Amino acid sequence: MTSRISGFYKLSPEERLDKIADKIDLNEEEKSILKGDSKFSIKQADRMIENVIGYLPIPLGIAANFKVNGRDVFVPMVTEEPSVIAAASNAAKLAYDSGGFMTSYSGSIMIGQIQVTDVQDPYGAMARVYENKQELINLCNQQDPKLVSLGGGIQDVHVRVVHTDTEKMMVIHLHVDTKDAMGANAVNTMAEAASPLIEKITKGKVILRILSNLADERITRVRAVFENPFQDDQEAIDKFYKASQLAIYDPYRAATHNKGIMNGISSVVLATGNDTRAVEAGAHVYASVSGQYQSLTRWEKGENNKIIGTLELPLAVGLVGGATQSHPVAKLATKMMGVQTAEQLAAVIASVGLAQNFAAIRALASEGIQKGHMKLHARNLAAMAGATEGEIDQVVEIAVKNQSFKFHEMEEIVKSLNTHGKG
Ligand code: MEV
Repeated sequence: MTSRISGFYKLSPEERLDKIADKIDLNEEEKSILKGDSKFSIKQADRMIENVIGYLPIPLGIAANFKVNGRDVFVPMVTEEPSVIAAASNAAKLAYDSGGFMTSYSGSIMIGQIQVTDVQDPYGAMARVYENKQELINLCNQQDPKLVSLGGGIQDVHVRVVHTDTEKMMVIHLHVDTKDAMGANAVNTMAEAASPLIEKITKGKVILRILSNLADERITRVRAVFENPFQDDQEAIDKFYKASQLAIYDPYRAATHNKGIMNGISSVVLATGNDTRAVEAGAHVYASVSGQYQSLTRWEKGENNKIIGTLELPLAVGLVGGATQSHPVAKLATKMMGVQTAEQLAAVIASVGLAQNFAAIRALASEGIQKGHMKLHARNLAAMAGATEGEIDQVVEIAVKNQSFKFHEMEEIVKSLNTHGKG
């Protein structure tokens, strides 16, 4: 199976779906789920969150040209932002011939925190927690025999003393291997169950018992080589490199640079029903672990004008639990990617983040993003300016020809078509 389909963007949504369905064996029912024609009922929505009165459909598109760890993959992305999917697909094409994206994974360990206050002897209590570590581990693992049977469960306990304005607090970290689950529920259950024992050992008071989104023991790293993407144009290569450097040294730029990475990452996280806020919180705090908020990517010049990109971030995503299983489109998104483990899912997500960053810097360091962005946004603008379904293509054609993408210019074009039509 190849993820390269030439002219995919030129097809209608129905034709694109048929093509993808063909490639990855989707049946008629699955196609109708993706089209939004069936399966996600208001009853299901009402089971997911509270006070439901409806839902907000956001488009799902496919990024093409991705090869991740030697396997071609179509990537489902859910986003309201034009240009994101086109940019990811274009960048992935430039990395394809040099092998695509290669990843590694530090493991699926999530950290649960237990805050203990009012401890007489925090360092003595720390020692007592370590002395009783095995009892704690046994208690935590009893909460989730299923996870333990899959080879997961609590692996270790670490104790910290945090000096606050008022006292030296203890923070006990439970390091839990959550395997193919994101793991928030498993970890929070263990943290709550362990608290009475922690109070007994420390003689303190437990307040918070909750997962940390700084999932720094669940790191995904991705690397890709972009083959001479500037066709030996040294000035363009230099601009690309300098643009990427600013995001390492200037937090104002780093915030936007990382936002662009998250355009790709969050779109896939959302498509699979995973928790976008957890991943975003983790990514941004990881970007500041050095003490200064900085870029999550690094770009280096290779030989023969290759550009080598790397990205490293915590990716707490899973394939079981929450909306990943209960939302029919999320389930299909996972199936479309052919991923069997949380590690494989994280590999695809990180690859999209790296591709997205390459595309953004390349555009920003050359012609800027507005030209391409406005062209892709033009269909939306045309509809907002009053063009009917039958008029949209014509309005966009005129707008592209005249490079007039401002809203009032769109309105003028629509008006001129209507006047012409009536006349
Ligand atoms: C826009 O959504 C994302 C960019 O601003 C990212 C960047 O500046 O690198 C284009």
